[in-house]
Amino acid sequence: MNQVRTWFAVRSSHFWLGLLVVAACTPSVSTTSDNSSALPPREAAVFPAGWRYTSGRTAAFAEHGMVASNSPLASEAGVEILRAGGNAVDAAVAVGFAMAVTYPEAGNIGGGGYMIVRFADGRTAALDYREMAAGAAFRDMYLDSAGNLTKMGLVGRAASGVPGAVAGLTAALAKYGTMSLDKVMAPAIRLASEGFIVDSALARSVQEKDSLIRRFAGANIFLPGGKSLAPGSRFVQPDLAQTLRRIAREGASGFYHGPVAEMIAAEMRRDCPQGVGERQRASHGCGIITTRDLAAYQPAWREPLTTTYRGYTLLSMPPSSSGGITVGESLNILEAYSALPRFGTAEYFHVVASAFQLAFTDRNSKLGDPAFVNVPIAQLTSKDYARRLQQTIALDRHTPTEQVANYAREGTETTNYAVVDSHGNAVETTTTLNSLYGSGVLIRGAGFFMNDEMDDFASAPGKANQFGLIQGEQNAIAPGKRMLSAMSPTIVLDQRGNVLLALGGRGGPRIITIVTQVILNVLDNRMNLADAMSAPRIHHQALPDTLRYERDGVEDATLERLKAMGYAMKAQGNIEGSLTAIMRVRGGYNGVIDPRSAGAAIGY
Ligand code: DON
Repeated sequence: MNQVRTWFAVRSSHFWLGLLVVAACTPSVSTTSDNSSALPPREAAVFPAGWRYTSGRTAAFAEHGMVASNSPLASEAGVEILRAGGNAVDAAVAVGFAMAVTYPEAGNIGGGGYMIVRFADGRTAALDYREMAAGAAFRDMYLDSAGNLTKMGLVGRAASGVPGAVAGLTAALAKYGTMSLDKVMAPAIRLASEGFIVDSALARSVQEKDSLIRRFAGANIFLPGGKSLAPGSRFVQPDLAQTLRRIAREGASGFYHGPVAEMIAAEMRRDCPQGVGERQRASHGCGIITTRDLAAYQPAWREPLTTTYRGYTLLSMPPSSSGGITVGESLNILEAYSALPRFGTAEYFHVVASAFQLAFTDRNSKLGDPAFVNVPIAQLTSKDYARRLQQTIALDRHTPTEQVANYAREGTETTNYAVVDSHGNAVETTTTLNSLYGSGVLIRGAGFFMNDEMDDFASAPGKANQFGLIQGEQNAIAPGKRMLSAMSPTIVLDQRGNVLLALGGRGGPRIITIVTQVILNVLDNRMNLADAMSAPRIHHQALPDTLRYERDGVEDATLERLKAMGYAMKAQGNIEGSLTAIMRVRGGYNGVIDPRSAGAAIGY
């Protein structure tokens, strides 16, 4: 059986590397003929003439199983486990640990994430391994003495929540995997201890974050001799290999107890100015995570949030992520239209943007960690409520956010991987350090970066975070609380209950809107998966009240019409987000990496 893959890269340097690898070692067998029995035939997508991604790109095709991730080496690790007889959970855990080695900008053991699982026999699961605020965290911890918001929730030792990744991955394996931890971690340990060849994507990413990495201990590892990792060089990470070996041997307690936990706590205490009081630590950039916080961390098993759209079923993440509710609410609003306007028209972008605006208005004020606040999940996902909201969308006019029906005034990095196995089981995972390389703080001796997830809280309710999100009291900081996320790992089932799509991605709040748009492209706009991922995108998040669109992705006449409807339009190179996705097609699966990012979909 051939191993098949497609590499996509947004930057030309990646592009050439990708081409070389495909030409050198992988026969590419691909198809876009995805007219599976449960779906009407796909239609050729028509994009604006100047649009940078062409329609008709080939997708990777595989008969038995598929892994799609932002790291080709991690996708290979997943396929290695599938080929060895592992199920989709075994493979997903292997990918997760491998990405901590090969994709340090977002793959991680110092961060957290979410996992949705759908077994072929119908069982489902949702795992919340989001970071938690440390015990010493409090509402105003990032405000200075004048009450102004500092940057300490984004950069440096104070920015981290207690990491959940190791607890999450090991819990998923223990509950649903079939292989031992050391077996699924073997590829990651090998990649860390023997090293791997730095590709241009990694070299570029380190270079772009040079000044952040330089400030902390990662400089020795990622900027050897003061220069960022060179493409083509072998990158070995002995400290990380040792940490991974310890986890493989001891399970989660190899991370949350003992030497690794001590190293994290020691790093938190480092370089804190003398005389800073307990309550001032975070606003001075001093870390607050202790060994006690680490020992107390637990992931949470939840029921997947189940919503429907035109007869399809979505399994997605309930709070502490806003992803499932906000994708589901947007789609419920759109379902109230008997059919959507034609893709690419002003009418189409208007109704889609209005649905996002309404759903984000609820998201930003009503959602938070369910262990701390009441979240009206039933209301927000009800079809009646969505229909009432849809009726407030004017036919040909934008309604300013402050006037939308559900408005209540309130006083860039992540990665996704999808796995399907030969039994029809599917796993969809999104994980993050928040910003690229997280807080920038590398744990000395343990070799990994810590997250800067505390910025996802409303550190000053009513004020914007790094994504411009203005959120409310529901998402204020409290000890032990999970910060609200936009991560939206989603599995879509067809009318017969079979897995049709597994998708998710990076981009902060844009994750919600781009996941929704790819679902619309597949279900309403009848695109094949490659086109659905290449199609131009828009973004609206209620506030700022701006309709963002991808430059050259919207026809001039459409733009003029949207402006005439009252939209403040903002062009961007790309909407800052990207997805990875797998779709069931006749005879197997297509896997596609967003052309806006690097990665590989590999199957067998
Ligand atoms: O959980 C969230 O919503 C954010 N921490 C995700 C961050 C992200 O996607 C950054 N990537 N561009």
